[in-house]
Amino acid sequence: MTAEPTVAVIGAGVIGLAVAWRLAAAGHAVTVFDPNPARGGASWVAGGMLAPVTEAWPGDEAVLELGEESLRRWPAFAAELSAAGADPGLSRAGTIVAAFDRADAEQLEIHAGYLRELGREASFVTGRELRRAEAGLAGAVRGGLLVPGDLAVDNRRLLNALVGAARRHGAEFVREEVVELAPGSVHTAGAVHRADAVVLAAGAWSAGLAPELAGAVRPLKGEILRLRARRTTLPPPHRTVRAVVEGRPVYLVPRQDGELVLGATQYEAGFDTTVTARGVRELLEGAERIFPAIAEYELTETAAGLRAASADNLPYLGELADGLFAATGHHRNGLLLAPVTADAVLAWLAGAPPPPGVAAAHPSRVRREERV
Ligand code: GLY
Repeated sequence: MTAEPTVAVIGAGVIGLAVAWRLAAAGHAVTVFDPNPARGGASWVAGGMLAPVTEAWPGDEAVLELGEESLRRWPAFAAELSAAGADPGLSRAGTIVAAFDRADAEQLEIHAGYLRELGREASFVTGRELRRAEAGLAGAVRGGLLVPGDLAVDNRRLLNALVGAARRHGAEFVREEVVELAPGSVHTAGAVHRADAVVLAAGAWSAGLAPELAGAVRPLKGEILRLRARRTTLPPPHRTVRAVVEGRPVYLVPRQDGELVLGATQYEAGFDTTVTARGVRELLEGAERIFPAIAEYELTETAAGLRAASADNLPYLGELADGLFAATGHHRNGLLLAPVTADAVLAWLAGAPPPPGVAAAHPSRVRREERV
């Protein structure tokens, strides 16, 4: 019997950890490289929406297809983690997209039509109907979309669950920064580590380790807040609530333990992760317009993360060089796309066909993008 290839996974965010867990469970000897596993990148800061439908816009069909493929995998993915003893806090409550004025409402009706054409469930309902579903929504909300199919997950419970599951299957963690990659080897400051295959899942830092991705993966800053209802306030919404307020998208994602995650700004700011007063103000002002009770909530955390943005919102999934695989550039959808990405890496290493939608995300399109 031949042993499964040994694998080095670069990055212990949600993608690297999901890949490490799945590969270790399939019998690969896996080593994960990250100076601060789970906590150092965008996944720890994220809102946790698993929302291919409400993130999709005309022109993003390949993103939607891959997102839906991954969303289908989410319930089993979460159930397996729960069965192994760590519940990642999957919510099936669905999403509301709120509209404030006629222009917003018209946009959402067009969006609902687009989604229905694609066979996705989304209905436009009045503000009164929305408030029957979520009593705390502002009186100014005049209508919106009810999207029952989008899920949400508690990103931090998920990451802790993945670290535990990967370790239980024998994955090892090297808490060092990777300075150079080559097919078959990973260089840290003090050592060269050998592996049959290398999976690059370093999020916004990926282009620095793979010249093939130079200019293709870039950091996209997002500030996010965490709040908590108090004894005297209305509780948070049950569903994820999203809206566009003065041209800026805002979302509120409730957690099972009473926390409310409020996100997120989106700026090109290089690798800067400073939380700015403007970012906090914009998020709070936007969220208060949708769900006024949050003004009295406790503000428990402010943070900023760096999304691994790509030019066309699709990730880069596929072989970059012999034995060096990209699993990066997940843009606004890292948590959503973790299960399908892990299954794709498993398939590559097994020589099996990857899941539907993965081929469109091959990194060879970087060269095509450069030509246009
Ligand atoms: N997926 C939400 C965000 O990137 O802000």
